[in-house]
Amino acid sequence: MDESPRSPVENAFLAHIMVDKSTLTEDTDFERTLVDHRSVENIHRRTSDTKNFSESACLLRNVEEQEVCKMMNNEMMHAQAPGFIELRDVRKTYTMGETEIHALDGINFSIDQGEFVIVVGASGAGKSTILNILGGMDKATSGQMFVDGKEVSTYTPKQMTLYRRYDVGFVFQSYNLVQNLTARENVELAVQVSKNPLDVDQTIDAVGLRERKNNFPSQLSGGEQQRVAIARALAKNPKMLLCDEPTGALDYQTGKAILQLLQDTARSHNMTVIIVTHNAALTSIGDKVIRVKSGKIESISRNEHPMDIADVEW
Ligand SMILES: Nc1ncnc2c1ncn2[C@@H]1O[C@H](COP(=O)(O)OP(=O)(O)O)[C@@H](O)[C@H]1O
Ligand SMILES: [Mg+2]
Repeated sequence: MDESPRSPVENAFLAHIMVDKSTLTEDTDFERTLVDHRSVENIHRRTSDTKNFSESACLLRNVEEQEVCKMMNNEMMHAQAPGFIELRDVRKTYTMGETEIHALDGINFSIDQGEFVIVVGASGAGKSTILNILGGMDKATSGQMFVDGKEVSTYTPKQMTLYRRYDVGFVFQSYNLVQNLTARENVELAVQVSKNPLDVDQTIDAVGLRERKNNFPSQLSGGEQQRVAIARALAKNPKMLLCDEPTGALDYQTGKAILQLLQDTARSHNMTVIIVTHNAALTSIGDKVIRVKSGKIESISRNEHPMDIADVEW
C-alpha cells in the first residue's frame, strides 16, 4: 500500500473515479482529460490496484493532455476488445543460485473463445510454463493475464482455487491420475467439482476406454492412462481445456483419434482448446498457431482452413 499523502490532483482524481459513470456529464472536468466514460472506466480499472494509483495520477499530471488522450484511447481499444484469453508481457523467471532462468521473457498473445490452438516449440522453449500459468498452476513473475474479461493475474489464492476448479481442464504431461481410483472413478472425481459436466460414461467411450473403465491406472498402458487424463479434463466441460503434449504416449492412430476428439469438442462445445506440442506437423490443424522459442513468441498465425486431422501425416 502506498502510504504517502495524496496531492490535491490525486484527491480530485480519486473522487472522480469513484463517481458512478452515469453521473458524469459532458462538462465534467475529467471528461475533457479522459476523452469519454470508457476511459474513466479504464482508469478505474487500473487504479483499483492501489500500486497503480499514483502511476495513473502522475500520468494525468505530467503528460500533455493530448498525449494522455492518445494513450488512454490506445489502452481503451485494447481493453474494449480483449481476447477470451489474453496474456500481456508475461514473464517467468526462475532464480537458481546466482543465475536467472528466463523461462518466459515477455509473452503476449490473445485467444478467442472456442479457438483450437496449437502452441509449438522445441523442448525447453517455455511451452509447459505458459500452460501452467494459463491453468493457474503457476504464477507469472510479472505481466497480466485476462480470461473471460477477468484479470486472473490479480486473483487471491482462494479465487485461484475456484478458477482451477471451474474454468480449467488440464491434461498433464505426466497424467497425474489418482492411483487407487479406477479410470471411471478418476473421471467421476473431476465431474464432482464441475458445474456443468459432460456424461462420464459417454466421455470415457469417446476416448475409446469403454472396456477399461474399471481398471486402475497401474493396470493401464501409458497411452490408456493418457486417455483417462483427457477424459477427466474433458468431462469437466471447462471453459478452456489445456493439454500438455496430449498425444506424447499414444500410438499414431490413437493420437490422431484423440486430436480429432479434441478438435470436435472445441467445435461442438465452443470450448477453447490449447494443445502444447513439439510436433510441428500439428500446426496445420490449429485455428491458431503460436510458435514459442527461448521464452519468447516467435510468431502467431491463423489457419483460415485448418486441415482435417485424418489428412495430416507425421
Ligand atoms: N521449476 C523450474 N526451475 C528452474 N527452471 C525451470 C523450472 N521449470 C522450467 N524451467 C526452465 O524453464 C525453461 C522452460 O521450461 P518448459 O516450460 O518446461 O519448456 P517446454 O515445456 O517448452 O519444454 C527451461 O529452460 C526449463 O529448464
Ligand atoms: Mg513441456
